[in-house]
Amino acid sequence: MTRLAKVALVGLGSVSGVKAWGVLGHATVAYIAQNYVTSDTASWLRNLRVDQPRAQGVLGDTSDSYLANIASWADDYRETKAGKWSAPLHFIDAEDNPPSDCNVDYNRDCGNAGCSISAMANYTQRVGDGRLSDANVQEALKFLVHFVGDLTQPLHDEALERGGNEIEVTFDGYQDNLHADWDTYMPEKLVGGGELTDAKSWADTLVGEIQSGNLSSQAAGWIDGDDIGDVVTTATRWASDANAYVCSVVMPNGVAALQSGDLYPDYYNSAIGTVELQIAKGGYRLGNWLNMIYKASIAKRDLSGVLGESDDPTPDIGGHDFLPARRAPSRAQLARAAMGGSCCNARHNH
Ligand SMILES: *[C@@H]1O[C@H](CO)[C@@H](O)[C@H](O)[C@H]1NC(C)=O
Ligand SMILES: *[C@@H]1O[C@H](CO)[C@@H](O)[C@H](O)[C@H]1NC(C)=O
Ligand SMILES: [Zn+2]
Ligand SMILES: [Zn+2]
Repeated sequence: MTRLAKVALVGLGSVSGVKAWGVLGHATVAYIAQNYVTSDTASWLRNLRVDQPRAQGVLGDTSDSYLANIASWADDYRETKAGKWSAPLHFIDAEDNPPSDCNVDYNRDCGNAGCSISAMANYTQRVGDGRLSDANVQEALKFLVHFVGDLTQPLHDEALERGGNEIEVTFDGYQDNLHADWDTYMPEKLVGGGELTDAKSWADTLVGEIQSGNLSSQAAGWIDGDDIGDVVTTATRWASDANAYVCSVVMPNGVAALQSGDLYPDYYNSAIGTVELQIAKGGYRLGNWLNMIYKASIAKRDLSGVLGESDDPTPDIGGHDFLPARRAPSRAQLARAAMGGSCCNARHNH
């Protein structure tokens, strides 16, 4: 039975689960972040504004899943006609040379249409900008919550074979591609499902590891130097960190070695700890990032009613000043463009 057939039997919930870090991964990142936002940040995001106590917050969602509920919106949006332009923002195609050489170079790798790193800069600016409409701020938040997750998935920081989408492999008896295994099938194998309740319990486990388990000594390092005043540098560090695993964990012996047998259980066992680590990192970073945005822009606005007068020139709200200089597209970028900016088939995209 093909993967598709299995998905069809399981139902629609699983079809939508086959997305960048699947719904499971993104929701888990979101739940972990919810654990680390301050109560002020949470109020701003959910339903209370210090300046307008009765107004709806950015999301107008008082549930316990206010970030998890929107964590995969960006994947659904880019599948729509209106949202197609945003497909390149889900990744940065590092044109390095795994497994011998892994690295990310923002000026080399971020295409003219933008990438995950420029998107982080754009939406960090927009979510904190008091001049934008509520709808624009909400859109910015939904993108941010998603892209912090995408940046931690090693194959979202790699150009080779379009981020592994074209590396056909066998996983646990199914034919699929390496990218989809990292996004969805390895996480779901670990957790046993792809629903929000699975994400919540995985998040609780990982928060436990961060608080007092085998991740507790590392967590401070994941956000060390994070600076919302220099998003490109910060997000490039996150991308480089994840990209390094392409050489060390994702394909340490090259592509052919992944295609000589079932990736389950040996490859899975070698990789799943990195999947857990990257999801934990994404959640911890996202919580901290939202707190920093709150402190730097929202808290100040609440005190003064409006953003203080400033002599600084008005920033380019379109974010175009964050993009690297325009240049002729590389071969990897042309390959992407040929696939409509996204990737391969409708289900396992990048
Ligand atoms: C942390 O330890 C648990 C067992 O307590 C293990 O299942 C998990 O894979 C470890 N996580 C990482 C990221 O090493
Ligand atoms: C910034 O976000 C806005 C709104 O989504 C979008 O129109 C614009 O193209 C983005 N700019 C960049 C450089 O990504
Ligand atoms: Zn993906
Ligand atoms: Zn994505």
